[in-house]
Amino acid sequence: MDSALPTTQANAAETSGSNRRDTVTITDNRTGKSYEIPITHDTIRAMDLRQIKVNPTDFGMMSYDPAFNNTAACISRVTYIDGDIGILRYRGYPIEELAEKSTYLETAYLLLHGELPTASELRDFQQHITQHTFIHESFKKLSDGFHYDAHPMGMLISALAALSTFFTDAKDVHNAESRRKQMYRLIGKMPTIAAFSYRHSLGMPFVYPDNDLSYPGNFLNMLFRTSETRYRPNPTLEHALDVLFILHADHEQNCSANTVRGVGSSYVDPYCATAAATAALYGPLHGGANEEVLRMLMEIGSVQKVPEFIKRVKEGEVKLMGFGHRIYKNYDPRARIIKRIAYEVFDLMGKNPLLEIALECERIALEDEYFIRRKLYPNVDFYTGLIYQSMGFPMTMFPVLFAIPRMSGWLAQWEELLLDPEQKIARPRQIYLGHDTRSYVGIDQRS
Ligand code: ACO
Repeated sequence: MDSALPTTQANAAETSGSNRRDTVTITDNRTGKSYEIPITHDTIRAMDLRQIKVNPTDFGMMSYDPAFNNTAACISRVTYIDGDIGILRYRGYPIEELAEKSTYLETAYLLLHGELPTASELRDFQQHITQHTFIHESFKKLSDGFHYDAHPMGMLISALAALSTFFTDAKDVHNAESRRKQMYRLIGKMPTIAAFSYRHSLGMPFVYPDNDLSYPGNFLNMLFRTSETRYRPNPTLEHALDVLFILHADHEQNCSANTVRGVGSSYVDPYCATAAATAALYGPLHGGANEEVLRMLMEIGSVQKVPEFIKRVKEGEVKLMGFGHRIYKNYDPRARIIKRIAYEVFDLMGKNPLLEIALECERIALEDEYFIRRKLYPNVDFYTGLIYQSMGFPMTMFPVLFAIPRMSGWLAQWEELLLDPEQKIARPRQIYLGHDTRSYVGIDQRS
């Protein structure tokens, strides 16, 4: 038996209690050889498969896992999800408790540092973020270069990449102090860039940050201030936005977190790495879904037309946007909290007319065999669009509202990657099924 461990006779079915060995034995039926492979945290290392060979010159066995359905690419201590029972925790704290008792900036601190801050640590952190809310005046020129109807996500992605040209010290990714500074800058500047892109689309002058306001309050100020001498955010909307920011702050190894890790593994600066993550978030299957949900509800048009639309979903013609999740096979815990917040906003701003259509979609889907069998439940994006619309945001801003708070999660994932001695540049393998060698054929000889 070839072994990654000291070899003994393996029979997993018969071992238990003190005899239990945390290994798995794989027999290669091509050669009859057995390999005993260690199991840690219910996982085997893909590299342990490499010893499985038909002959010594073989490359060795790999695992094939398109879309990473069953591959852990890192060890993380940031966010925990149990998708079967609908649990989400940041650094061990349940999302429900954070949404009720914390603020976005405190949660961002928690994600980045691993612990909740003391009062003075929080004051310091807020102070640092606030100091970094302003952006260079050249940014106005950059914004002016965009077409009047440019999608704000496209502008945000470009602006983040452009920031790397302003802060060249950010290249020093192995310097803890430098990393911290870029984190303050990125979290501080996200609302400013987002608000500038919104004002650009309206042709309105940019509003500079008011650092006496809270993080979400200042964002509302930069978005909506018109002729007031001093903008006073509505406390219900300010609170709703803060809770939404907490709920969106991180979500373990999703498409954009995987992107920030993949791109960050080349040691590029965090502005470029988070620009790439923002691009990943923009897609309609990820953070762009909230925008798509609203378009879908408008297309459905009335409660009476919901059954007809659900029929089209079941026939595979369209998707029920805002439903389904790679990890959650139960109600997304964030969707529950968002539904509650939605009513607080509707009480203030009036009920969103699309709400009844959304509720009917949810009611039918939750009782329908198609959705039950596939474990499709509302995800975070199903109700957020309705709240954002009631708060006065245009649809194109919805993914931006997701990206602003997700910055803290991306940065926590990025730093964890850099500090992990096991990580290297991300470089998956492939199974090559293309042509074998063939000789070049001159253009005049091709048929
Ligand atoms: N509507 C209808 N059917 C669906 C939906 C949906 N929203 N989502 C999944 N399904 C079906 C699939 O067609 C598939 O059916 P099949 O087994 O008959 O082929 C089955 O459910 C499994 O779906 P997959 O696509 O394999 O699931 P996967 O984990 O790859 O995709 C995803 C997850 C992308 C979120 C998917 O559910 C989806 O497209 N949802 C709509 C978009 C959306 O709301 N995205 C936001 C996700 S949350 C976030 O990123 C913040």
